[in-house]
Amino acid sequence: TEPLRLGIAGLGTVGAGVVKIVRQKAQLLADRSGRHVEISAVAARNRDKDRGVSLSDYAWEDDAVALATRDDIDVFVELMGGSDGPAKAATEAALNAGKDVVTANKALLAYHGQSLAELAETKGAVLRFEAAVAGGIPIIKALTEGLAGNDILRVMGVMNGTCNYILTRMEEAGLTYQQAFEEADSLGFLEADPELDVGGIDAGHKLALLASIAYGTQVNFEAVELEGIGRVTIEDIRQAGDMGFRIKLLGVSRMTGRGLEQTMAPCLVPATSPLGQLSGGTNMVVVEGDQVGQIVMRGAGAGEGPTASAVMGDILDIARGTRLSTFGQPATSLKPCTPARATTS
Ligand code: NDP
Ligand code: HSE
Repeated sequence: TEPLRLGIAGLGTVGAGVVKIVRQKAQLLADRSGRHVEISAVAARNRDKDRGVSLSDYAWEDDAVALATRDDIDVFVELMGGSDGPAKAATEAALNAGKDVVTANKALLAYHGQSLAELAETKGAVLRFEAAVAGGIPIIKALTEGLAGNDILRVMGVMNGTCNYILTRMEEAGLTYQQAFEEADSLGFLEADPELDVGGIDAGHKLALLASIAYGTQVNFEAVELEGIGRVTIEDIRQAGDMGFRIKLLGVSRMTGRGLEQTMAPCLVPATSPLGQLSGGTNMVVVEGDQVGQIVMRGAGAGEGPTASAVMGDILDIARGTRLSTFGQPATSLKPCTPARATTS
């Protein structure tokens, strides 16, 4: 069998993590997928930067679009970030060239997921993004495969590791917001623009993507009722604790008779509940299906290993020949999303 050849654009926290797995686990990847997975070429901005892994075996491109359209790649792996600019241009170029695409870029998908998925289908290519939502937790695979026979009633969770880390460290270690933020940065959790994290926007992107998959509707990030953690004080956290609650940046989506509710905001959750016991950079996604009942998935939502793990899962699916649609059904069959304001029930 021919090897599956990757072109990886972006060699930061996630990209370097993916290169390490491909190098260190070559046999395991081949055993599990039936194909050897190879890297043909890589791209980043600074060729001289030490990435903690050797890149000398791979061709180098300064331009992600040039990488995306190389004849010697089968899969374009987009790990640069950004909702527009090079990430969008290179992803479109790859799909137009009939290459499959794996990305961790929730911002890109929150705005352009529908058009990119339609482009992929037109070109007979696959676009996959497991790592974009809740890092290492395989929630997209769960929704599109294992839970595909359910009507999904509700999806909720803590989906931004940075915010959960900051809130936890303020609460448990008495750190200031700034100290906790700097710790999260040192762990590789932060977006290039950290306002995406603390403003709740990144978590809102993820919620909108999950809602699309869960309810078969087109992604509608603009309809997410959004509030970040910037106004949460240590005093709020203490008062919540005194009443037996913790403050979490919680996302909830629910399909109602009036339309789709999507909220992402700091919420009080009982300290003894699964969500209330979540600490540090950990994420938790709770899904309620009409047949399965409630499922809780918990794990690392950010960082090198967990995010690269999810990217590799998508790559191996492609190596195995999966042609499953990105959103669990053809993008052209997703219904327009009618938003509804959230109620308190
Ligand atoms: P980093 O900032 O660590 O890395 C970004 C990489 O992209 C860098 O190597 C950078 O090059 C490269 N890059 C930026 N612009 C260009 C360009 N124009 N052309 C070529 N290369 C470019 O980001 P992360 O690894 O943290 O994140 C990557 C993606 O994964 C983002 O979409 C992010 O939202 C997503 N993600 C990240 C997670 C995490 O825990 N970090 C978790 C889940 C998703 P250089 O190094 O030379 O500057
Ligand atoms: N900045 C994101 C977070 C990375 O903190 O959760 C994972 O998507």
